[in-house]
Amino acid sequence: MAVLRKNYSLKEHNTFGIEANAKYFFEFDTLEEIHDFLSKNDIVSIQYLITGGGSNLLFTEDFNGLIIHPNILGIKILEEDDESVLVQVGANEVWDDFVAWTVSKGLAGIENLSLIPGVVGATPIQNIGAYGVEVKEVIESVEAICVETNKEVTFSNANCEFDYRNSVFKNEYKNQFIITQVNFRFLKNKAFKVHYGTIAKELENYTEVNLKNIREVIIKIRESKLPDPKQLGNAGSFFKNPIVNKTQADVLQEKHPNMPIYELNEMQSKLAAGWLIEQCGWKGKRIGDAGVHKDQALVIVNYGAAKGSDILHLANDIRKSVLYKFGVKLELEVNAI
Ligand code: FAD
Ligand code: EPU
Repeated sequence: MAVLRKNYSLKEHNTFGIEANAKYFFEFDTLEEIHDFLSKNDIVSIQYLITGGGSNLLFTEDFNGLIIHPNILGIKILEEDDESVLVQVGANEVWDDFVAWTVSKGLAGIENLSLIPGVVGATPIQNIGAYGVEVKEVIESVEAICVETNKEVTFSNANCEFDYRNSVFKNEYKNQFIITQVNFRFLKNKAFKVHYGTIAKELENYTEVNLKNIREVIIKIRESKLPDPKQLGNAGSFFKNPIVNKTQADVLQEKHPNMPIYELNEMQSKLAAGWLIEQCGWKGKRIGDAGVHKDQALVIVNYGAAKGSDILHLANDIRKSVLYKFGVKLELEVNAI
């Protein structure tokens, strides 16, 4: 059922656990309900925001507008043949439950993305990625409703313009489309990807390399590094890993021989923001209730009563020191609202 709430607390709707209120909060379960709501309310003229699980959001103040929260559920196999399976998933299905479902059905492709918080509808926004896999590899298309026209639109994979932690929904179409469902295609002969970090080594403890064991290993690695938002507020990596041109990468490598640098192509390399931040002395630092995680310098945490502005303040200080020491600009991964 659709519900419109007024002066609604967002504390349970952001994994940073920041206290902030929304003036209006609208939840809906079906396409009919959102069509009806958009036809009766001209929301383009007010401030609005679409949210999922709130695991990539930082509220820096109260939200003096309307939050739209799709509650659409459902996992449905649309097509299956000898080569692939096409699955349609509602925006509010919990991502990791969907990953567990694919593993239980023997569908390979997203097991490396186990334990990423949030819901399915948000996964195309920043093209979630981890352990050598990005969700763009299995997205066939994205179903959405245009807020302005109230029309249903299907975005093909190519039209989503996926890139590292990026898509058309973070750029040209930012906040303009409510993603309602995502269609995923899983190939039946898909090879496992276990080259990243210590996955292969951890798998040596198992008798077989299969989906279930890969999922278990990924969960174990993630739990050893990343704080659980239920215990310590955070939104995962606060910054993106910076991409620099080859010349800058070569200069940095010569000055800092231990710097991890990953070649992306002939022109560009990716740096490890966590390493840069740690080298600037931030790892484990705490200022009031905002801090840099002790095991992962790329993760900013809320020890309890930090305000969004405290987190942003710390983030800005980190950016300044990384720019000063390395000449590298850090870009936010988290969506600061
Ligand atoms: P939200 O935070 O609610 O929203 C994120 C963005 O998507 C916002 O811009 C919002 O407006 C938009 N949005 C959400 N739903 C919709 C919709 N239905 N239609 C249109 N726009 C929408 N990310 C990774 O990529 N890799 C990781 O390994 C990873 N690890 C993490 C670990 C931890 C501990 C945490 C807390 C976060 C991590 N993240 C990671 C970040 C986060 O989990 C992902 O970005 C996730 O996809 C966000 O989902 P959400 O449902 O919480 O979205
Ligand atoms: N590092 C440090 N110090 C730190 C953290 C990292 O030196 O405090 C070094 C590591 O030693 C390693 C390198 O940085 O050499 C990369 O570290 P790691 O493999 O832990 O991954 P990351 O680059 O910090 C990225 C993603 C994560 C994703 C992991 C695993 C981004 C912004 N972050 O982190 O995604 O889970 O790789 O694939 O790309 C997220 O987006 O929220 C997120 C958690």
